[in-house]
Amino acid sequence: MTEKVAKLTLGDQTFDFPVLQGSVGPDVIDIRSLYAKTGLFTYDPGFTSTAACDSSITYIDGDKGELLYRGYPIDQLAEKSSYTEVCYLLLYGELPTKAQLAEFDDLVTRHTMVHEQMHYFFRGFRRDAHPMAVMTGVVGAMAAFYHDSTDITDPQQREIASIRMIAKMPTIAAMAYKYSVGQPFVYPRNDLDYASNFLHMCFSVPAEQYEVSPEIARAMDLIFTLHADHEQNASTSTVRLSGSSDANPFACIAAGVACLWGPAHGGANEAALNMLRQIGTVERIPEFIARAKDKNDPFRLMGFGHRVYKNYDPRAKVMQETAKKVLDILGVENNPTLQVAKELERIALEDEYFVDRKLYPNVDFYSGIILNAIGFPTSMFTVLFAVARTVGWIAQWKEMIADPQKKIGRPRQLYNGSPAREYQSIDAR
Ligand code: ACO
Repeated sequence: MTEKVAKLTLGDQTFDFPVLQGSVGPDVIDIRSLYAKTGLFTYDPGFTSTAACDSSITYIDGDKGELLYRGYPIDQLAEKSSYTEVCYLLLYGELPTKAQLAEFDDLVTRHTMVHEQMHYFFRGFRRDAHPMAVMTGVVGAMAAFYHDSTDITDPQQREIASIRMIAKMPTIAAMAYKYSVGQPFVYPRNDLDYASNFLHMCFSVPAEQYEVSPEIARAMDLIFTLHADHEQNASTSTVRLSGSSDANPFACIAAGVACLWGPAHGGANEAALNMLRQIGTVERIPEFIARAKDKNDPFRLMGFGHRVYKNYDPRAKVMQETAKKVLDILGVENNPTLQVAKELERIALEDEYFVDRKLYPNVDFYSGIILNAIGFPTSMFTVLFAVARTVGWIAQWKEMIADPQKKIGRPRQLYNGSPAREYQSIDAR
């Protein structure tokens, strides 16, 4: 096979750059030698055309609406797999055997407790602190509690840090919730699976155990699975950039949590649910559709559109079905928010504005309805996303650390400030 080459012509000079092929997806032009050869940088704010790394973990085809974890389509994993099996797959590259999964589950289960001193750390926060502010602080503080797994050059320590974070994130998230509602922290239970244990830690109180319904636990597990990884999104890129300086893994994941907090990223499901409630009834949908199309109105349909998906987000399909199931189980038939969501989706998908711009529901459109029905306040939605995404962040961080080509991330810039000038003493200004 002849190697493809991209030619760049600058004035009367032409430069060749190799074109690299991945296993699937668009080829990339390798411009690593661009500056050395030409003295130029590329300009790509938002990295809309830039591949920042090699990766073999997750693949998205935005035009087809396809999402693969290690090659497996998300809808198959959602239907047949479980969150911890997906964690194993993302971390180690292959689906586990029965014995491997049992061993992995046991390992994760036996790391769910947090250092008892962490309770005092939580108590330093104001009661009304946003749980994401608490998460950012506490996840970063894990480096202080577990400094025996911060040496990133030791593969064994990297492994222990990874298991610790996957196992302890639900405990920390549940503690953030309990603290915000003024209830005592609930310790994990080793007889429960990952999702059931999380629901137990959130909703049990010492006076009364929460009866974990298997169907609700399955819906929680599904939400975790659907959010487990999403290739080089903003928070994952933040984790990679932080890790590129050899920062410890807990600090890197804390950086990912901080980035995820933004309403354009992890905060969108909260915004989508608020919007559906604001619309309130099916009759008011046309008014909001008109506002979304009006360029003089800043209103946008939250949970609609995606930077990468220009087709139906495959996760949204699973979410829609799950929302219906969860509401049925909880006996919330004819839920007005779900009715508004489905009708809004139907109208938008027939509307020329949304069709032309390839705007489809994304994962956030239905997830808020499910989480709310389970009993989570909106302030916890992004926290749940952070719990689920931790494995993706870790898998990507581990991949980067083990890559012999790893370099510290250091983007360049198009400078528009003042050229060099002489310092003027304060009296002369
Ligand atoms: N409602 C109305 N119009 C929209 C919407 C929307 N939700 N999304 C995009 N558009 C329009 C834009 O106004 C623009 O129209 P124009 O071409 O006439 O100017 C066109 O569609 C393209 O939009 P961009 O913002 O350029 O597309 P981009 O890919 O940069 O944005 C984004 C993607 C930020 C997700 C956008 O669709 C949006 O704001 N959606 C609502 C917020 C949301 O749901 N975010 C969650 C993302 S998923 C996640 O993080 C897990």
